[in-house]
Amino acid sequence: MAFQRAKITVFGAGFVGSTVAQRCADKELGDVTLVDIVPDMPMGKALDMFESSPVERFDAKVTGSNNPDDCRGSDIVVVTSGIARKPGMSRDDLLKTNAQIVYSVVDKVREHAPNAVLIMVTNPLDVMTFLAHHRSGFPKNRVLGMAGVLDSARMASFVAMELNVSIKDISPMVLGGHGDTMVPLPRYTTVSGIPITDLIPADRIEAINKRTQTGGAEIVNLLKTGSAWYAPGSSVVAMVESIVKDQRRVLPCCVLLEGEYGLKGSWQGVPCVLGKGGLEKIIELKLNDAEKKLLENSNQHVAKAIAECKTLLGL
Ligand code: NAI
Ligand code: 2OP
Repeated sequence: MAFQRAKITVFGAGFVGSTVAQRCADKELGDVTLVDIVPDMPMGKALDMFESSPVERFDAKVTGSNNPDDCRGSDIVVVTSGIARKPGMSRDDLLKTNAQIVYSVVDKVREHAPNAVLIMVTNPLDVMTFLAHHRSGFPKNRVLGMAGVLDSARMASFVAMELNVSIKDISPMVLGGHGDTMVPLPRYTTVSGIPITDLIPADRIEAINKRTQTGGAEIVNLLKTGSAWYAPGSSVVAMVESIVKDQRRVLPCCVLLEGEYGLKGSWQGVPCVLGKGGLEKIIELKLNDAEKKLLENSNQHVAKAIAECKTLLGL
C-alpha cells in the first residue's frame, strides 16, 4: 500500500488563507498549496512559510501559485477567496462578485480535484456553502462550511473569561447560521461535563450568548479594517485535521440538512462527525422548545438569504 501525504489547497492567500496554510504546515497535516490572483504574492508567502520549516522543524512542502489548476489532486480545498465590501458597493454587488469568485474556484476544483473535500470560508458563509454545493455537484458529505467551530470557540473564550477556568475544560456548542441569529446552546456548553447553566447566572449567560452572536463584529470594530483571522484560521485547521487524520471529531459545521432537526434542504450549522470522507454523520441534539424556535429563526434567516441569492443569480 502506498502512503501519501495529504494535499491541501487553500484558495485566497489573504489573512485567513495564509493563517490556514501556516497552521496546516506547522501541524504537518500535508503539503500545502496557496493560490491567489495577486501576482507573485502567494509564492512569496509560501516561500517565507517554507523557510520557517528548518527553524520550526516541520515536514511539509508549501508552495504558492497564481494558477488555480494547481489544486490538481487535492484531498482538501479550503476556499477563503473573496473581496471585502468596498465604498459604494451594495450587498447584492458584493454577493454577486463573491459568488463569481467562488464559482471560478469551484469549477477548477471540480475539474482537477473531483474527490476533494471542500471547506468554505468566504462570507456570507451559509450562502457560499450552498453555492459551492450547487456548482460543484459534489455529494453533501464533501461540502462543508466553517463557522460553528469559530462561533463555539468564541463562546468558550467568553465562558473561560467569566469563570476564570482553563479553556481546556470547556466544551462549547453553537448551532445555526453564521450571523446574528446563530444559536449558542448553554445547556450543551459544559465545563468538565457541568452545563454552564449550573455555573453562571442567567443574565451573564445571556450576555455571553449576545457577545458570541456579535463576536465577528466585535473584532471588526476593534481592527477598524478587515475581519478576524487567527481564530477563523485555527477553526478551519481543526476541521482539516479531523479529516486528514480521520479523527472523527464532533465539530459544528454548516452542512445540508435533509430532515435532521426537522429541517429539509436547509444549510445550517450542526454538530458533525468529521472523518476521512468529510461529513461522516450529523448528530441530532435533543432541543427544548425554546432552542427549537431559535434554530427555526436562524434557518428562516439563512433560507431567505439563499432565496435572495438564487433570485439574484437566476438559479
Ligand atoms: P483577505 O482580503 O485578506 O483575503 C482574500 C483573498 O482572496 C485576497 O488575497 C484576494 O486576492 C483573494 N482572491 C480574490 N479572488 C480570488 C480568486 N478568484 N482566486 C484566489 N484568490 C482570490 O480576506 P480574509 O480576511 O482572508 O477573509 C477571507 C474571507 O473569509 C472573507 O470573505 C471573510 O469575510 C471570510 N471569513 C469568514 C469567516 C467564517 O467564519 N466563515 C471568518 C473570517 C473570515
Ligand atoms: C467572523 O465571524 C468575519 O465571519 C467573520 O469573524
